[in-house]
Amino acid sequence: MANKKNKLHFSTKSIHVGNKIDETGAAVTPIHFTSTFRQPTFASTSKYVYSRVGSPTLAALEENLAMLENAKYAYAFSSGMAAMTAIFMMFKPGDHVLISRNVYGGVFRLVTKVLNDNKVDFEFIDTTNLDTIAKAITENTKLIHLETPSNPLLELADIKKVSELANKNNILVSVDNTFMGSYGQRPLDLGADIVMHSTTKFLSGHSDVLSGALMVNDDSASEKITLIQNTGGALPSPFDAWLLLRSVKTLSVRVEKQFDNAGKIAKWLDSNSLVTRVIYPGLKSHKQFDLATKQHSCPDGKPVYGSMISFELDQSINLDSFAKKLSIITLAESLGGVKSLISCPYSMTHASVPHDEKAELGITPNLLRFSVGIEHADDLISELEFAMNHN
Ligand SMILES: Cc1ncc(COP(=O)(O)O)c(C=O)c1O
Repeated sequence: MANKKNKLHFSTKSIHVGNKIDETGAAVTPIHFTSTFRQPTFASTSKYVYSRVGSPTLAALEENLAMLENAKYAYAFSSGMAAMTAIFMMFKPGDHVLISRNVYGGVFRLVTKVLNDNKVDFEFIDTTNLDTIAKAITENTKLIHLETPSNPLLELADIKKVSELANKNNILVSVDNTFMGSYGQRPLDLGADIVMHSTTKFLSGHSDVLSGALMVNDDSASEKITLIQNTGGALPSPFDAWLLLRSVKTLSVRVEKQFDNAGKIAKWLDSNSLVTRVIYPGLKSHKQFDLATKQHSCPDGKPVYGSMISFELDQSINLDSFAKKLSIITLAESLGGVKSLISCPYSMTHASVPHDEKAELGITPNLLRFSVGIEHADDLISELEFAMNHN
């Protein structure tokens, strides 16, 4: 990437980095639908050999993804969970890994049901508290994995402080940045070592691609991830890679609008007597409002608070009849897209987390997670109001 381009703004780079114009002059990066590449001789190889190991579409995407997090390297995966699995595969038996206690249910399932026999010692802790992390560190701790904001309680971990603590102890820090979608938070700049995304969410932004990504600066982490990625083979197809590359071009405008809508809706929910709890990092009532203001910033430095809101409806409201009244807000898992989605973490994304653990965390049956899209905020508010009052 030429130096000149590094001085450009995020929204400009989102469109141009990786999207080179080739010798045909096509204004849009083409999709290379091929699994293999012709080689010059039996003994020598050209730039691309086999699509599991690298392809022009994937290379364009990875250059673009690295830019989003100011990273030296980016790796695309076939899903966020494939990216997450790749992080955990970097560690060996006896290693100790600390994980934010209310991570995405799939990550909880991966650790407790799939990787529990491979002898890496995983421990879930409250990563909102630096002392808790410091006390949990042992001589075998190799990684602290933060999900911040967390899903669905929007708890924050102080990436800068955790990274300082980890650095002193030679521990890597990985951050699941899915909820802020790069535009609202860039963990590598705050000292983290690995950024992970379910790019299925904000980066793809249209609820039509399943994919994931890892971004790193460190050469040795990069070597390990390269091996895991091209040997494990959990890569996006050329079409998914291309769709994602196209989607990132509009990331900043989509996300700005989503953040703006969410701020308005969170305030409205907060003033509604049928809503018993609103969790949104942009409300002063959020326990970590100050940290959110410091840590979540768009690339020009303005504080932003995301477009995920969790709120609890009054017990008098029947959730099913509330959901039946919704038409522009879709009852579905996932988040980050232009189309608003609503889900119930208790019975959906976090179904695999035992009831007692959910109760302890505060994931109650009537807690809803709202992923605010780019529809007009007034239309979204009207629909919520109607569904609450015609129950
Ligand atoms: C915070 C978070 N991390 C990881 C994942 C997993 O991503 P994917 O569904 O793309 O595998 C999700 C999915 O909802 C998520 O919300």
